[in-house]
Amino acid sequence: MRKLIFGLVFAILPAMGLAAGGGAALDSMEPDHTNKESLQRGAALFTNYCMGCHSAEYARYKRVAEDLEIPIELYEENLIFTGAKIGELMKNSMNKDMAADWFGAPPPDLTLEARLRGTDWVYSYLRGFYKDESRPLGVNNVVFDKVGMPHVLVGLQGLCAEKPHIGTEPSIDPLSGNVMHSDVCANYAIEGSMSGPEFDQAMWDLTNFLSYMADPIKVERERLGLFVLIFVAIFFVFAYLLNREYWKDVH
Ligand code: HEC
Repeated sequence: MRKLIFGLVFAILPAMGLAAGGGAALDSMEPDHTNKESLQRGAALFTNYCMGCHSAEYARYKRVAEDLEIPIELYEENLIFTGAKIGELMKNSMNKDMAADWFGAPPPDLTLEARLRGTDWVYSYLRGFYKDESRPLGVNNVVFDKVGMPHVLVGLQGLCAEKPHIGTEPSIDPLSGNVMHSDVCANYAIEGSMSGPEFDQAMWDLTNFLSYMADPIKVERERLGLFVLIFVAIFFVFAYLLNREYWKDVH
């Protein structure tokens, strides 16, 4: 019994270590790969604003177009800028060594990023840029201190004048008792084209897309899993009956 308890404790320890993993507080983001509209908007953002620097070279354009139900011609016309064919991998022509010189670090491939860091982290990171004159590019990030990436979405979000509120609990209005979701950024040094909530939604879509790309068969796997469970349940009945039949005469 004691052995069993020891075993259990050691089995649980690594998981506790993960949960305790420190770092900045994050906003939570639960992806939904069945929301095709969100994934389509995310794909558009990703190709327009990220692929200039980041590749997604473990994904293929065609697969993305099919999974997201975007017609192939439409995808080719609007979402491939490199002249690549629809069947090719989502590479770009950024030279990694030169990029490392420019930004201090090369922009990593983002195919598996959502699995590497988790969707909470990515969602918070994308909304975490703020003005910081001490940095070479004039911006810093609350989730990734001293980040080398420029704030490429400044045209949409604007530039937050101070550290944005990421990972803070929503406060309760003392008068009405309503839950108040404070805007991520209270003061802007530069105004963007989107409002706070609009930008949050856009980053939700983008994170959703990155999450889909890191695990494109999630929906299919879950659907199959259900069939497997149903099969096992039905099979169990027959296995049980057969077992009874075999043992019927053994006393
Ligand atoms: C101008 C080039 C450039 C563009 C455009 C760009 N990034 Fe980056 N990104 C970088 C660089 C450089 C880094 C590495 C930063 C570092 O390590 O300090 C980076 C890092 C990241 C990271 C963190 C990687 C990690 O785990 O360390 C994520 C996530 C990311 N970018 C997402 C995006 C997304 C999403 C977009 C599109 C909205 C985007 N980036 C657009 C240059 C860019």
